[in-house]
Amino acid sequence: MKVKQHLAGIWNQQYRSPGGMVGWFAGERMVCQHRPETVWTLNLLEIQPTDTVLEVGCGAGQGIKLAAEKANGGRVIGIDLSELMVRVATRRNAQAVKAGRVALAQGNMTALPFEDQHFDKIMTIHTFYFWSEPSQVLSELYRVLKPGGRVVITLSTGKINARGEVEVWPPLQSALQGQVMPGMQREGFQVARLERGPNSRQYTSVAVIGEK
Ligand SMILES: C[S@@+](CC[C@H](N)C(=O)[O-])C[C@H]1O[C@@H](n2cnc3c(N)ncnc32)[C@H](O)[C@@H]1O
Repeated sequence: MKVKQHLAGIWNQQYRSPGGMVGWFAGERMVCQHRPETVWTLNLLEIQPTDTVLEVGCGAGQGIKLAAEKANGGRVIGIDLSELMVRVATRRNAQAVKAGRVALAQGNMTALPFEDQHFDKIMTIHTFYFWSEPSQVLSELYRVLKPGGRVVITLSTGKINARGEVEVWPPLQSALQGQVMPGMQREGFQVARLERGPNSRQYTSVAVIGEK
Protein backbone atom coordinates (compact mmCIF):
# COMPACT_ATOMS: atom_id res chain seq x y z
CA MET A 1 0.00 0.00 0.00
CA LYS A 2 2.88 2.34 0.84
CA VAL A 3 4.37 1.79 -2.63
CA LYS A 4 1.00 2.51 -4.23
CA GLN A 5 0.63 5.72 -2.23
CA HIS A 6 4.18 6.74 -3.09
CA LEU A 7 3.52 6.22 -6.82
CA ALA A 8 0.23 8.14 -6.61
CA GLY A 9 2.16 11.02 -4.99
CA ILE A 10 4.68 11.01 -7.85
CA TRP A 11 1.86 11.16 -10.46
CA ASN A 12 0.07 13.97 -8.61
CA GLN A 13 3.25 16.02 -8.51
CA GLN A 14 3.91 15.36 -12.21
CA TYR A 15 0.36 16.29 -13.20
CA ARG A 16 0.77 19.58 -11.31
CA SER A 17 4.10 20.45 -12.89
CA PRO A 18 5.57 17.89 -15.31
CA GLY A 19 9.38 17.77 -15.44
CA GLY A 20 12.14 15.36 -16.54
CA MET A 21 11.60 11.92 -18.08
CA VAL A 22 8.71 11.07 -15.75
CA GLY A 23 7.13 14.42 -16.64
CA TRP A 24 7.42 13.68 -20.34
CA PHE A 25 5.72 10.32 -19.78
CA ALA A 26 3.01 12.00 -17.65
CA GLY A 27 2.33 14.48 -20.48
CA GLU A 28 1.92 11.69 -23.06
CA ARG A 29 -0.24 9.71 -20.62
CA MET A 30 -2.54 12.74 -20.26
CA VAL A 31 -2.82 13.04 -24.06
CA CYS A 32 -4.42 9.57 -24.08
CA GLN A 33 -6.35 9.86 -20.82
CA HIS A 34 -7.88 13.31 -21.40
CA ARG A 35 -9.00 12.96 -25.00
CA PRO A 36 -12.78 12.54 -24.36
CA GLU A 37 -13.07 15.65 -22.17
CA THR A 38 -10.72 17.63 -24.44
CA VAL A 39 -12.88 16.92 -27.52
CA TRP A 40 -16.00 17.75 -25.49
CA THR A 41 -14.47 21.03 -24.26
CA LEU A 42 -13.63 22.08 -27.81
CA ASN A 43 -17.22 21.42 -28.88
CA LEU A 44 -18.50 23.56 -26.00
CA LEU A 45 -16.23 26.41 -27.11
CA GLU A 46 -17.76 26.44 -30.62
CA ILE A 47 -14.49 27.67 -32.13
CA GLN A 48 -14.91 29.60 -35.38
CA PRO A 49 -12.28 29.55 -38.18
CA THR A 50 -11.01 33.08 -37.47
CA ASP A 51 -11.05 32.87 -33.65
CA THR A 52 -8.09 33.71 -31.44
CA VAL A 53 -7.98 30.91 -28.85
CA LEU A 54 -6.07 30.49 -25.58
CA GLU A 55 -5.44 27.26 -23.66
CA VAL A 56 -4.21 27.77 -20.11
CA GLY A 57 -2.18 24.82 -18.75
CA CYS A 58 -1.95 23.24 -22.20
CA GLY A 59 0.19 20.29 -21.07
CA ALA A 60 1.54 18.23 -23.98
CA GLY A 61 -0.48 20.19 -26.56
CA GLN A 62 -3.32 17.91 -27.66
CA GLY A 63 -5.99 20.58 -27.02
CA ILE A 64 -3.91 23.11 -28.95
CA LYS A 65 -3.69 20.77 -31.94
CA LEU A 66 -7.43 20.14 -32.02
CA ALA A 67 -8.19 23.86 -31.54
CA ALA A 68 -5.84 24.80 -34.40
CA GLU A 69 -7.73 22.44 -36.72
CA LYS A 70 -10.91 24.40 -35.97
CA ALA A 71 -9.41 27.91 -35.93
CA ASN A 72 -7.66 27.26 -39.22
CA GLY A 73 -7.78 30.94 -40.22
CA GLY A 74 -7.14 32.26 -36.72
CA ARG A 75 -4.51 31.84 -34.05
CA VAL A 76 -4.12 29.47 -31.08
CA ILE A 77 -1.92 30.20 -28.08
CA GLY A 78 -1.03 27.86 -25.23
CA ILE A 79 0.68 28.61 -21.97
CA ASP A 80 1.93 26.27 -19.29
CA LEU A 81 3.95 26.69 -16.12
CA SER A 82 6.13 23.71 -17.07
CA GLU A 83 8.96 24.50 -19.44
CA LEU A 84 9.01 20.82 -20.46
CA MET A 85 5.32 20.88 -21.46
CA VAL A 86 5.90 24.02 -23.55
CA ARG A 87 8.66 22.18 -25.44
CA VAL A 88 6.56 19.02 -25.92
CA ALA A 89 3.49 21.01 -27.04
CA THR A 90 5.64 23.00 -29.47
CA ARG A 91 6.96 19.76 -30.99
CA ARG A 92 3.44 18.28 -31.20
CA ASN A 93 2.29 21.40 -33.13
CA ALA A 94 5.50 22.03 -35.06
CA GLN A 95 3.91 22.69 -38.47
CA ALA A 96 1.31 25.12 -37.18
CA VAL A 97 3.97 26.88 -35.06
CA LYS A 98 6.13 27.24 -38.15
CA ALA A 99 3.16 28.65 -40.07
CA GLY A 100 2.59 31.21 -37.30
CA ARG A 101 -0.88 29.86 -36.46
CA VAL A 102 0.12 28.42 -33.06
CA ALA A 103 2.37 29.81 -30.33
CA LEU A 104 3.38 28.20 -27.02
CA ALA A 105 4.96 29.96 -24.07
CA GLN A 106 5.80 29.40 -20.45
CA GLY A 107 3.46 31.40 -18.22
CA ASN A 108 1.45 31.44 -15.04
CA MET A 109 -2.33 31.54 -15.06
CA THR A 110 -2.31 34.00 -12.15
CA ALA A 111 -0.67 36.67 -14.36
CA LEU A 112 -1.47 35.96 -18.01
CA PRO A 113 1.09 37.59 -20.31
CA PHE A 114 -1.52 39.07 -22.68
CA GLU A 115 -3.25 42.39 -23.19
CA ASP A 116 -6.88 42.94 -22.20
CA GLN A 117 -9.66 41.56 -24.45
CA HIS A 118 -7.36 39.53 -26.68
CA PHE A 119 -9.11 36.14 -27.00
CA ASP A 120 -12.44 34.99 -28.47
CA LYS A 121 -12.27 31.63 -26.70
CA ILE A 122 -10.36 30.32 -23.69
CA MET A 123 -10.18 26.80 -22.30
CA THR A 124 -8.44 25.19 -19.38
CA ILE A 125 -8.66 21.44 -18.77
CA HIS A 126 -7.75 19.67 -15.52
CA THR A 127 -5.94 22.67 -14.05
CA PHE A 128 -8.55 23.72 -11.50
CA TYR A 129 -7.05 21.42 -8.83
CA PHE A 130 -3.92 23.62 -8.88
CA TRP A 131 -5.60 27.03 -8.66
CA SER A 132 -4.05 28.42 -5.49
CA GLU A 133 -5.86 31.75 -5.98
CA PRO A 134 -9.19 31.05 -7.77
CA SER A 135 -10.36 34.69 -7.72
CA GLN A 136 -7.09 35.84 -9.30
CA VAL A 137 -7.31 33.20 -12.07
CA LEU A 138 -10.95 34.10 -12.82
CA SER A 139 -10.02 37.78 -12.91
CA GLU A 140 -7.23 37.06 -15.42
CA LEU A 141 -9.46 34.90 -17.61
CA TYR A 142 -12.08 37.66 -17.66
CA ARG A 143 -9.52 40.37 -18.40
CA VAL A 144 -8.01 38.70 -21.50
CA LEU A 145 -11.40 37.55 -22.92
CA LYS A 146 -13.07 39.74 -25.57
CA PRO A 147 -16.62 40.96 -24.93
CA GLY A 148 -18.87 38.23 -26.37
CA GLY A 149 -16.11 35.66 -25.79
CA ARG A 150 -16.46 32.32 -24.03
CA VAL A 151 -14.40 30.46 -21.46
CA VAL A 152 -14.70 26.75 -20.61
CA ILE A 153 -13.12 25.34 -17.45
CA THR A 154 -13.19 21.53 -17.51
CA LEU A 155 -12.46 19.27 -14.56
CA SER A 156 -13.52 16.12 -12.82
CA THR A 157 -15.48 16.27 -9.58
CA GLY A 158 -16.13 12.57 -9.10
CA LYS A 159 -15.08 8.99 -9.61
CA ILE A 160 -17.19 6.02 -10.76
CA ASN A 161 -16.84 3.14 -8.32
CA ALA A 162 -16.88 -0.62 -9.03
CA ARG A 163 -20.69 -0.65 -8.72
CA GLY A 164 -20.98 2.04 -11.39
CA GLU A 165 -22.00 4.73 -8.89
CA VAL A 166 -20.55 8.23 -8.95
CA GLU A 167 -18.61 9.15 -5.81
CA VAL A 168 -18.50 12.93 -5.71
CA TRP A 169 -15.44 14.67 -4.22
CA PRO A 170 -17.06 17.16 -1.82
CA PRO A 171 -14.16 19.69 -1.65
CA LEU A 172 -14.10 20.14 -5.42
CA GLN A 173 -17.87 20.23 -5.70
CA SER A 174 -18.12 22.86 -2.97
CA ALA A 175 -15.26 24.92 -4.45
CA LEU A 176 -17.19 25.06 -7.72
CA GLN A 177 -20.47 26.05 -6.08
CA GLY A 178 -19.03 28.24 -3.34
CA GLN A 179 -16.10 29.94 -5.06
CA VAL A 180 -16.07 29.60 -8.85
CA MET A 181 -19.72 30.26 -9.74
CA PRO A 182 -20.06 33.30 -7.41
CA GLY A 183 -16.57 34.43 -8.48
CA MET A 184 -17.59 34.43 -12.13
CA GLN A 185 -20.63 36.50 -11.37
CA ARG A 186 -18.50 38.97 -9.36
CA GLU A 187 -16.09 39.33 -12.28
CA GLY A 188 -18.98 40.25 -14.56
CA PHE A 189 -19.50 37.14 -16.71
CA GLN A 190 -22.96 37.51 -18.30
CA VAL A 191 -23.51 33.76 -18.33
CA ALA A 192 -21.99 31.29 -15.88
CA ARG A 193 -23.30 27.74 -15.93
CA LEU A 194 -22.25 24.18 -15.21
CA GLU A 195 -22.56 21.35 -17.72
CA ARG A 196 -22.00 17.61 -17.23
CA GLY A 197 -19.77 15.90 -19.78
CA PRO A 198 -18.63 12.43 -20.79
CA ASN A 199 -17.15 9.98 -18.34
CA SER A 200 -13.45 9.61 -19.02
CA ARG A 201 -11.93 6.36 -17.75
CA GLN A 202 -13.45 6.10 -14.25
CA TYR A 203 -13.88 9.87 -13.81
CA THR A 204 -16.80 12.20 -14.46
CA SER A 205 -16.38 15.45 -16.40
CA VAL A 206 -17.91 18.79 -15.65
CA ALA A 207 -17.41 22.18 -17.31
CA VAL A 208 -17.96 25.71 -16.07
CA ILE A 209 -18.95 27.83 -19.04
CA GLY A 210 -18.70 31.60 -18.86
CA GLU A 211 -19.59 34.26 -21.42
CA LYS A 212 -18.46 37.87 -21.23
C1 LIG B 1 -3.17 17.83 -15.11
S1 LIG B 1 -2.22 18.71 -16.28
C2 LIG B 1 -3.41 18.94 -17.61
C3 LIG B 1 -2.75 19.22 -18.92
C4 LIG B 1 -3.71 19.35 -20.11
N1 LIG B 1 -4.61 20.43 -19.96
C5 LIG B 1 -4.46 18.05 -20.28
O1 LIG B 1 -5.67 18.00 -20.01
O2 LIG B 1 -3.84 17.06 -20.67
C6 LIG B 1 -2.12 20.32 -15.57
C7 LIG B 1 -1.23 21.27 -16.36
O3 LIG B 1 -1.37 22.58 -15.79
C8 LIG B 1 -0.09 23.17 -15.70
N2 LIG B 1 -0.13 24.18 -14.62
C9 LIG B 1 -0.21 23.97 -13.28
N3 LIG B 1 -0.21 25.14 -12.61
C10 LIG B 1 -0.16 26.12 -13.56
C11 LIG B 1 -0.15 27.55 -13.51
N4 LIG B 1 -0.17 28.18 -12.34
N5 LIG B 1 -0.10 28.24 -14.67
C12 LIG B 1 -0.05 27.59 -15.86
N6 LIG B 1 -0.05 26.24 -15.98
C13 LIG B 1 -0.11 25.51 -14.85
C14 LIG B 1 0.87 22.01 -15.41
O4 LIG B 1 2.20 22.32 -15.74
C15 LIG B 1 0.26 20.90 -16.27
O5 LIG B 1 0.81 20.86 -17.57
